Amino acid sequence: MTTSIISIQDVSKIYANGTIGLSHINLDIAAGEFVVIVGLSGAGKSTLLRTINRMHSISSGDILINGQSIRHYQGQKLRVLRRNIGMIFQNFNLVEHSTVQRNVLSGRIGYYSTWRSILNFFSKADKQKAVQALQRVNLAEKLYTRADQLSGGQQQRVAIARALMQNPQIILADEPIASLDPLTTTAVMNDLKRLNQELGITVLVNLHSVPIAQKFADRIVGLRAGKLVYDKPIEQVQADDFQQIYESTPASSEVRA
Ligand SMILES: Nc1ncnc2c1ncn2[C@@H]1O[C@H](COP(=O)(O)OP(=O)(O)O)[C@@H](O)[C@H]1O
Ligand SMILES: [Mg+2]
Repeated sequence: MTTSIISIQDVSKIYANGTIGLSHINLDIAAGEFVVIVGLSGAGKSTLLRTINRMHSISSGDILINGQSIRHYQGQKLRVLRRNIGMIFQNFNLVEHSTVQRNVLSGRIGYYSTWRSILNFFSKADKQKAVQALQRVNLAEKLYTRADQLSGGQQQRVAIARALMQNPQIILADEPIASLDPLTTTAVMNDLKRLNQELGITVLVNLHSVPIAQKFADRIVGLRAGKLVYDKPIEQVQADDFQQIYESTPASSEVRA
């Protein structure tokens, strides 16, 4: 499909120790979709997201971004790919003793030469952009606060603002709410949804929670033991669909067989 922003084509990932992370995954994602990936722990959700920005290489198949195979990208092409894809992690990955401003500005590093980023030499335009990114997640008043003085939900929203500094076409969020309480969970998911709707950023989120997936997704994809076992637009999702993804027969033995 030429219209897909992400095209995952018969992708398998076998780790060095022989564990099957992904098995023959086919998945096409259109620009502007908000896709939630659900599955048990160990199903392959993180592996899948990490193959998309080449944090992990794949063992077979191919991944196209904007119609281009990224499988063998190196050097400048890999840098541009990673700049185009914002990553959000469960544990936020902020520099805790730095200010919110510095953390957000660091999202810009992919646009700077090495010496400028080493010297932390950010332009006035980028400092303004950092304020705008923080406004988008309602945290502009925290510009000069140290990251470790924020709540978990606020830290995750700083991480989202940092990702925005990349001007990403795609945001990949790996269990972004797993460490948060229900109230901040909603704030973080609302932020991701707003960026998807207002800026047209394509969003892929790994989640454990089916109710939250149903509340925010345009489409739900289910993984089980490295295989894609479910893929439906939200209008077609039924309440009892998720048994096949979450039923408790051991999946890991199938994986390692
Ligand atoms: N670096 C690694 N080396 C070997 N096996 C791994 C590695 N990372 C993940 N796995 C295995 O790959 C499978 C999928 O893991 P993962 O993608 O982390 O699942 P999920 O994110 O859905 O919990 C699991 O069996 C896991 O143990
Ligand atoms: Mg994971």
